[in-house]
Amino acid sequence: MRDVSIIGIGQTPVGEHWERSLRHLAYDAVSAAMRDAGIERADALYVGNMLAGEISGQSHLGPLIADFAGLRGIEAVKVESACASGAAAVRMGYLAVASGSHDIAICVGVEKMTDDVGNRLTSALAQAADADYEVVHGISFVALNALLMRRYMYEYQVRHEDFAGFALNSHANAVGNPNAMFRRAITLEAFMDAGMVADPINLMDSSPMADGAAALVLCPTEQAREFNGNAVRIAASALATDSLSIHDRYDPLWLQAAQDSAQRAYRQAGVGPDDMDLFELHDAFTIMAALSLEAAGYAERGRGWQLAVDGNIRPDGRIPICTMGGLKARGHPVGATGAYQIVEAVQQLRGQAGDCQLPNARLAMAQNIGGSGSTIVTHILERG
Ligand code: COA
Repeated sequence: MRDVSIIGIGQTPVGEHWERSLRHLAYDAVSAAMRDAGIERADALYVGNMLAGEISGQSHLGPLIADFAGLRGIEAVKVESACASGAAAVRMGYLAVASGSHDIAICVGVEKMTDDVGNRLTSALAQAADADYEVVHGISFVALNALLMRRYMYEYQVRHEDFAGFALNSHANAVGNPNAMFRRAITLEAFMDAGMVADPINLMDSSPMADGAAALVLCPTEQAREFNGNAVRIAASALATDSLSIHDRYDPLWLQAAQDSAQRAYRQAGVGPDDMDLFELHDAFTIMAALSLEAAGYAERGRGWQLAVDGNIRPDGRIPICTMGGLKARGHPVGATGAYQIVEAVQQLRGQAGDCQLPNARLAMAQNIGGSGSTIVTHILERG
């Protein structure tokens, strides 16, 4: 296997893009990434997307986006792993380049959620869960996470306000990110007073619906210096799975696939959690942030929330998370999110994160979750 580096990144702002179609959003991100890398051709395109078939009536995104981006004829496929589709597409690009099958692969995550609103969108998101055993009861995806959060609060005697630090940190960090959906800080009062979505998850525990696209260009590390001199190496790439339904897990409050993919990634990179300068984790809901920190080895079981209470997840804390706003405030265009996380980690490692820049970041981890923990993709990136 060859070492693989990221030589180009591109993204659109996250938000409600009424005036841009799915293909235009993908084009904007892909063409920006190609310009950044200084390339005009590629060997393959991997498109991460979850909802286009359901919401935009458009499947078969590989050839659609390859053609629209001026890449007609190359290998191009859609990769679907619910909300982990973006990072899964990056993993497919990584494998294609590492294996020697292709020299230049473009990975793009794209989602257009706001073409629809209300029940249809809620039903489409629930397709990430088990249709026969979970969704058949009428449960929404937010409600599934609410059940997990309620159980966690009961088992570990945690109060709702103990989760506030996750939302406050993400919103504060998003202020400095020009591509974030919500560029405003929030207070503890605003968190506590927010309207309830599915008890105990309120509006400030939850990521929003959004549109957006983010793209990366990958090539073999040994060829990377021929391009823009800004290469970031993919030190590890790992994907693990768990049962689709929560009730089939040995412990519903443990993200086994997060632990498995993180451990594989640590082994591949030869590092541990304490070596990381930042962690772009999947804060779709505050409960997911707490569980992710525990599974990745940053906290004991049932204590992930403590890092938020103590401020240890902030830019000057022990492990800065969601450094450009995370899913909560940058926004969560589901199938694009994993690509955004990796693009943002690259910005940090290149020293191009602007007002969100962490001092001297060398190693970054990005972890993207599909469903309630059924597909989890972890990447570790290294500067230089
Ligand atoms: N955080 C902060 N503010 C939010 C927000 C969020 N998550 N979602 C919406 N808002 C704001 C909007 O900007 C808007 O503000 P304004 O009135 O000042 O313009 C207001 O709240 C209402 O927005 P609207 O789009 O009507 O929200 P909604 O009530 O239809 O939906 C949720 C809010 C939280 C229910 C919806 O975003 C949701 O279901 N999120 C979860 C999505 C999900 O499950 N994703 C997959 C997870 S893996």
